[in-house]
Amino acid sequence: MSAPNKSYDPVEVEALKPEAIERMRDEALAAFAAADSLDALQEAKVAHTGGTSPLALANREIGALPPQAKAAAGKLVGQARGAVSKALAGRQTELEAERDTRVLVEEAVDVTLPYDRARAGARHPLTTFMERVADVFVSMGYEVAEGPEVEAEWFNFDALNFTPDHPARQMQDTFFVEGPKGTAGDESGVVLRTHTSPVQARSMLDREPPVYIVCPGRVYRTDELDATHTPVFHQIELLAIDEGLTMADLKGTMDHMVQSLFGSDMKTRLRPNYFPFTEPSAEMDMLCYVCKGTSVGNPDRPCRTCSSEGWIELGGCGMVNPRVLVACGVDPEKYSGFAFGFGIERMLMFRHNVEDMRDMVEGDVRFTRPFGMEI
Ligand code: DAH
Repeated sequence: MSAPNKSYDPVEVEALKPEAIERMRDEALAAFAAADSLDALQEAKVAHTGGTSPLALANREIGALPPQAKAAAGKLVGQARGAVSKALAGRQTELEAERDTRVLVEEAVDVTLPYDRARAGARHPLTTFMERVADVFVSMGYEVAEGPEVEAEWFNFDALNFTPDHPARQMQDTFFVEGPKGTAGDESGVVLRTHTSPVQARSMLDREPPVYIVCPGRVYRTDELDATHTPVFHQIELLAIDEGLTMADLKGTMDHMVQSLFGSDMKTRLRPNYFPFTEPSAEMDMLCYVCKGTSVGNPDRPCRTCSSEGWIELGGCGMVNPRVLVACGVDPEKYSGFAFGFGIERMLMFRHNVEDMRDMVEGDVRFTRPFGMEI
């Protein structure tokens, strides 16, 4: 700061000369105008309005002036600083607007672009088909029941009237988790369930009749994986226990199922068969949904789906054997029931012309994709 100025003339102070102030102002304005970014403007701001800027220093010189000279000098510097801060604010606004416009362009998001190029996954057609079949029965009032896949030998066989020497118990069919009955000294061994029928026994023991259950689930047999076999597959089991149920109820229920799944002109037929847990037992066929039986005896129009048989084998069924009712605490004098069980893989194969069972278990999305994205 200069020494006290006795002459009363601010013009004598170099920094307060009007040309000097004008120059400082013009330099500031030029610097602001030249700043091409907000960062550059910030630097120019510090240089031209900061505590050590020429105008700030000139302002300090005013303090050293005699009182009479302070007003004129103050006005001069004040006007210059006013112009500088106005220019600064103006440039600041301009640069901010430029930045905002640029950001809007640079960071623009095209909301019409696909947001996710990865294909959405979907559940396996076996799962969705199994649920669709179960839904047919749920719509008739059946309850979905479940049971364990690692099952007591008693539920899998004994409760269902399989004799101890029944061939299905042998090692070649059944995965034993804990030795076959007897060898470990236990009452009942543990197996991977070979069918969903043990859920029949579990449901009867769990509930008071009437019982109407449908049980979709995974089952296991010691088969090699090939075009028509897989050691892990799926079945749906049906059980109805009530007063006065007959084979006619079974047939009507099955007709409704095939009509729901394959069309209203479908029907079923029964052929005699044997299962230990049903008496009488039958094999259930459904009309071939492709040729509707018209290929039979008609060599001009052979049907690949049913091999011109006119019928497709669905699964086993029958009236629940009274011995099973007794084993599961149901009074056979009062109640009767029907049961039905069939394999999902087989049904999916002929419904969708799948020729090789392995396609269904190997998990290749090229197989599952054509079934759509049902979830
Ligand atoms: N559980 C039998 C199997 O896996 C299929 C079966 C037959 C189920 C007759 C039933 C039935 O409910 O009544 O071969």
